[in-house]
Amino acid sequence: MTTEAAAVPGLAGQVLAAYGDRISLHDLYDEAGAPVYHDLAAVDTTEIRELLRSVRAVPGPVLELAAGSGRLTLPLLALGREVTALELEESMVALLRERLVEAPAGIGKRCTVVRGDMSVFELGSTYAVVVLGTTSVSLLDERGRAGLYAAVRAHLRPGGRFLLSTVDVTDTDGDDLDLEAVGVSGRRYRMIEHWRAGQEVRKVTILPPQRHIPEEGPVLALTTSIRVLPPDDLARELALAGLRVVARHPLPAASSRHTGVLLEAEAA
Ligand SMILES: C[S@@+](CC[C@H](N)C(=O)[O-])C[C@H]1O[C@@H](n2cnc3c(N)ncnc32)[C@H](O)[C@@H]1O
Repeated sequence: MTTEAAAVPGLAGQVLAAYGDRISLHDLYDEAGAPVYHDLAAVDTTEIRELLRSVRAVPGPVLELAAGSGRLTLPLLALGREVTALELEESMVALLRERLVEAPAGIGKRCTVVRGDMSVFELGSTYAVVVLGTTSVSLLDERGRAGLYAAVRAHLRPGGRFLLSTVDVTDTDGDDLDLEAVGVSGRRYRMIEHWRAGQEVRKVTILPPQRHIPEEGPVLALTTSIRVLPPDDLARELALAGLRVVARHPLPAASSRHTGVLLEAEAA
């Protein structure tokens, strides 16, 4: 097992240890991880309805940050808006571009794809709405978030809205969450989340279910670390950065221990 795999905590760490050096561990958004992320994202409709409702209320161009392979980008384009989609990872940008080419009725032509870092960007335009969905604010540390808020303020039109989602976690029983999910390909994935009360980060590990792992050969395992940013803490942080939260929209929970919220903020 690699040193990175040995550092995976909790149940996922035990599962990976059982496969020893057969484990090939990658980041969920790198070249090996992106197709798996996309397979799962393509069937995930979480927060799309709530997000579109809030975007509809503010006419004008949309900037979507951390756009990934376009799970939210395509529905935003379907509203008839001009969308600029910013994404850090080349592998995700490539998937997004493919989807835009395949999108119906040429809606992809209204999308500008930018490879960039959401914690430091300068696009030379302003937007009616800036969207940061899928809890992706949690991928940034405090310094990264400060950069994000400053860049968002600089890109918001007067009266514009910053829409961002976050998830709070409660540790109900002290066990790791161990779920099975199905991608759009029909492939099944085991997802293990490790988090204990008070920890700043939850660690998600994705690998095939045990019964689908052959006797020999490499086993692809993917990890991602997601900070836990409760909505009240995030709203306080936004206020200090000059972004006032004007509405909170509850989101359907991913599990009994997750509480999702879509925050709507405006420049103070
Ligand atoms: C949870 S995914 C969400 C993707 C997409 N919004 C969705 O709903 O499927 C997070 C995305 O953020 C991207 N990302 C991570 N750090 C980033 C950064 N600093 N700037 C821009 N994108 C980033 C990752 O590559 C990944 O595609």
